[in-house]
Amino acid sequence: MTKRVSVLFVCLGNICRSPTAHGLFRDLVKNSGLESRIYIDSSGTGDWHIGRPPDTRATEHALARGVDISDLRARLVTSSDFDNFDYVLAMDAQNLHDLEQMVPSEFAGHLGLFLEFAANYQENEVPDPYYGGEEGFNLVLDMVEDGCNGLLADISEKHGL
Ligand code: 4NP
Repeated sequence: MTKRVSVLFVCLGNICRSPTAHGLFRDLVKNSGLESRIYIDSSGTGDWHIGRPPDTRATEHALARGVDISDLRARLVTSSDFDNFDYVLAMDAQNLHDLEQMVPSEFAGHLGLFLEFAANYQENEVPDPYYGGEEGFNLVLDMVEDGCNGLLADISEKHGL
């Protein structure tokens, strides 16, 4: 059996940006018929919301675009995640910095910023929408849609899917 390519999205609280990416990428992968080839998860560098569902604003905004993320639950990223994931993708530079403190030297996968896969954004960070208004959640969705398309293209090319 072919090994699945695995992707972990990481933000701070794991209740806004990374579950949004998790849910959108999950639907994109499913609609592309690649569900059995790509494993997807998300996690946070902060522990405040462990076990909780996504922020209701993130859930509602994703649902308005036809994506249901209500089943997801927050968890903390750990160094053992680097044993299990091929792509570990940070939503912002602080998340990436925190991940770089825990990555084992033998990690052979891709650790980087998620937005590097987006085609239409010059910036490379998805801004934290938690303390802001509705427009922040729509921007997250726009950026995440773009990044997910580029990510799937990258995985398909590199792994021959
Ligand atoms: P996220 O947003 O990192 O996109 O999930 C946040 C959620 C919660 C907090 C900060 C950011 N917080 O401080 O509780």
